[in-house]
Amino acid sequence: MKYTDKRPVSIAPMMEWTDRHYRSFMRQITRHTMLYTEMKTTGAVIHGDHERIIGFSEPEHPLVLQVGGDDPAELAQSAKIAEEWGYDEVNINVGCPSNRVQKGNFGACLMAQPEVVGAGVAAMQEAVKIPVTVKHRIGIDDLERYEDMANFVDIVSRYGCERFIVHSRIALLQGLDPKGNRTIPPLRYEDVYRLKREFPHLIIEINGGIKTIEDMQMHLQHVDGVMLGRAAYENPFLFSAVDATFYNDERQPPSRREIIARTIEYIDKVAEAGVFPNKVIRHMHGLFHFKPGTRAWKRYLSENAYKPGTTGKILWDAVEKIPDEILDERPAIFMESDTARNESA
Ligand SMILES: Cc1cc2nc3c(=O)[nH]c(=O)nc-3n(C[C@H](O)[C@H](O)[C@H](O)COP(=O)(O)O)c2cc1C
Repeated sequence: MKYTDKRPVSIAPMMEWTDRHYRSFMRQITRHTMLYTEMKTTGAVIHGDHERIIGFSEPEHPLVLQVGGDDPAELAQSAKIAEEWGYDEVNINVGCPSNRVQKGNFGACLMAQPEVVGAGVAAMQEAVKIPVTVKHRIGIDDLERYEDMANFVDIVSRYGCERFIVHSRIALLQGLDPKGNRTIPPLRYEDVYRLKREFPHLIIEINGGIKTIEDMQMHLQHVDGVMLGRAAYENPFLFSAVDATFYNDERQPPSRREIIARTIEYIDKVAEAGVFPNKVIRHMHGLFHFKPGTRAWKRYLSENAYKPGTTGKILWDAVEKIPDEILDERPAIFMESDTARNESA
């Protein structure tokens, strides 16, 4: 199967963070950004309660299910379930360094076993029509040279994988915990650019430390896609400029006031199905990142959103100290092009 579709911007899979409520919140901000689930083990996907483990709602598309596993048959079965549930893509985790994951022989330790990853990819592709992709590191402990990563990608691509998402730092499996492994090993963007140069027929996306629209534009001169993790969570409004900047979407991006109003509608809807509002609100703390009033907003939410009887309306109470111009602000890129349009009219 040929897979050449480019999707320049995505939000990384993040355990405990990128659940369906976070994704639904982000969909009020960006319609086109590719979204990922948290990593789900093949065991959970196969044997778990599907609605609870992999359930999602239609507006979350385009959406990727990320799986963790090393057994080709189980990976294939998980991919089949993902496809049946309507996922757009399925991705294998070759980046997680946690001890639990290492014990199961999946995640980053698979960087040392490209044939195993390749066999998984091949079995999955045999089972489904949706694309199968791999998210990996630039290396691990004793395999930290560019050549080691290139060897990994070369072998896995021969089994049929055409899209690789590269977290641009190595993972040290001995001695560093997952958090340390996201901050201590240095970022090596140049290795990812080189990978794209040497494997031009593959889709190569870059991940790690990307924080601004300008960062995204800069990386996209070298690779096919950018994936943001922590910045997407800590500063969700950053994504309000993504549709216009990278997907040529000319519709007016939403202001924070509109995002809040739409998210309240979502909260009310899921509350009818028994979802407690804070399951959604907990993902909204960063909405005013770097803006006046952000502390008051966060404090209000922390002190009130967990209380019984809370509804989405508390979001309006929480914005009381936020100036109107911040609530109604739209991304600079749109304001600029709007001004230009008006001037030329
Ligand atoms: C809280 C948290 C949970 C994460 N969980 C996953 C995961 O489930 N699967 C995965 O491939 N990476 C996971 N990661 C790593 C991110 O996907 C990403 O590769 C990493 O944070 C680097 O990107 P960033 O610098 O933009 O955050 C997680 C990161 C964080 C902060």
